[in-house]
Amino acid sequence: MVSNILFLAAFSLSGFRPAQSQSTPSICDNSTLLIDSLQVLEEAQECTTVAGDIVIQYASDYPATMEFPNLESVDGSFLSINFDEDISVTRLSAPKLTTVAADVYISRWVKLTTINMPVLTTINRVRLNNLPSLTSANFLATLETIENNYEVTNTSLKEIKNDKLKFAIFVEIFDNRELEKFELTALTNASYNVALRRNKPGVEVSLPALQEVFYFDLQRISSLEIPELEQVIGHFLVNESTVTTVEAPKLQSVGLWYDPSISITNNKGLVILNSGSLASLSFPALEAVQLDLLIRNNSELRDISFPMLKRVTGNIGLEGTFESVSFPELEKVGGIFSVGNDESGFSCSDLQGFKSNGTIRGDFSCPQYEELPARGSSIGESKEEIEDWLKWSGQPSQPGQPDKPNHGARLGSLRSMSAVVFSIAISVVSLVL
Ligand SMILES: *[C@@H]1O[C@H](CO)[C@@H](O)[C@H](O)[C@H]1NC(C)=O
Ligand SMILES: *[C@@H]1O[C@H](CO)[C@@H](O)[C@H](O)[C@H]1NC(C)=O
Ligand SMILES: *[C@@H]1O[C@H](CO)[C@@H](O)[C@H](O)[C@H]1NC(C)=O
Ligand SMILES: *[C@@H]1O[C@H](CO)[C@@H](O)[C@H](O)[C@H]1NC(C)=O
Ligand SMILES: *[C@@H]1O[C@H](CO)[C@@H](O)[C@H](O)[C@H]1NC(C)=O
Ligand SMILES: *[C@@H]1O[C@H](CO)[C@@H](O)[C@H](O)[C@H]1NC(C)=O
Repeated sequence: MVSNILFLAAFSLSGFRPAQSQSTPSICDNSTLLIDSLQVLEEAQECTTVAGDIVIQYASDYPATMEFPNLESVDGSFLSINFDEDISVTRLSAPKLTTVAADVYISRWVKLTTINMPVLTTINRVRLNNLPSLTSANFLATLETIENNYEVTNTSLKEIKNDKLKFAIFVEIFDNRELEKFELTALTNASYNVALRRNKPGVEVSLPALQEVFYFDLQRISSLEIPELEQVIGHFLVNESTVTTVEAPKLQSVGLWYDPSISITNNKGLVILNSGSLASLSFPALEAVQLDLLIRNNSELRDISFPMLKRVTGNIGLEGTFESVSFPELEKVGGIFSVGNDESGFSCSDLQGFKSNGTIRGDFSCPQYEELPARGSSIGESKEEIEDWLKWSGQPSQPGQPDKPNHGARLGSLRSMSAVVFSIAISVVSLVL
């Protein structure tokens, strides 16, 4: 009973498509092909095209390899979120499958080691989660187009690589305790996020074609390749990593400009934290950080330099044992400028000049670090803050403009809004799970 409800909740995620009858036997034409016994599995194995969704539930008599030898396309989803006893299948195989119109979503098959779908190229979303034994899923590399998510959570995959996918909305890679490499070499745009969290410490991240991402969230990485990245619309966060350098040679702008129609609930702009091996930062083209610029607790970092940075609409917070701080082009800091540095040789007086000549609007604190003020999160407060900044900074009323033509608030917020709606739909299901 419970499992049926859960199943329906998950199921409602994927869109139905009208069944077009063609294949034999008739279960191939069902709007839901529910596999819950060996007998149904054997019938389903005849299908070449499935008109609706394939939904796999627990059965005690499945073989160790579950194969769909004839299956070429699924007009709905390929879905299995197991709530019952552990499914004993170790290998799931569909050697001819090329297209799944909606989702490939497989969750909680604790014994599954291999997903073999070597010619699968087209999906709406892929979600693999809670598959702790999974060491191979070849379709992650063969996918050519995806409309929504590329999500891999809680597997034992060592590498996640793809050189064909150009676009995704969500790219979320969490809790993969064996992961060493993450390479999406064709990805140019991730319109909601690229996020890696709680994976094995030291993941090497390579995104050589990435030009634009909304939220960029990196934790526990050991290297980062982003030579083409120009625009991070939401935030850029590196946390708890063993990177020795973070270089973003083309990055021009980070951070969502305040938009009166949405509320900003955190201060994050460009944030680099808790990375004890980090010895150098290179952001030679960065001109604007909306919200906060925060660099803290990176014990090897000696020099902080942002040679082109003109505007930080939020606060600047720098804390550590660095020797030099350089912002030769800085014109406006909307919030406070806080520097915490207990190196005896460090001089605060050069930076003090930014306060004296009005570059910094808020407090200037150095060498004692002052915690950055939290941002009010109501829509009214955001609006007031924007208007206030515009008045103070004498910026044109199109705040996106100076950084990149018309790529600022409005478009960004529309995109983030639909993404939010979308993630709510997902979290309803995750909650249920
Ligand atoms: C196919 O659909 C029929 C009618 O809705 C239903 O009774 C049957 O259980 C379905 N079969 C499978 C295998 O899902
Ligand atoms: C990974 O999945 C397994 C199986 O569902 C679960 O027991 C475990 O708690 C999950 N681990 C994490 C970190 O979510
Ligand atoms: C990224 O994708 C978004 C949403 O589809 C689009 O509006 C934007 O122009 C794209 N950016 C680039 C650099 O391709
Ligand atoms: C950085 O990682 C630490 C430890 O996991 C966490 O407590 C903190 O919230 C993270 N900071 C941000 C800004 O995500
Ligand atoms: C500072 O970063 C180190 C990793 O380099 C981490 O172990 C430590 O917990 C961090 N300190 C704080 C106060 O977060
Ligand atoms: C303000 O002071 C800083 C630090 O002394 C200096 O680099 C900057 O050029 C000054 N800006 C203006 C507009 O005078």
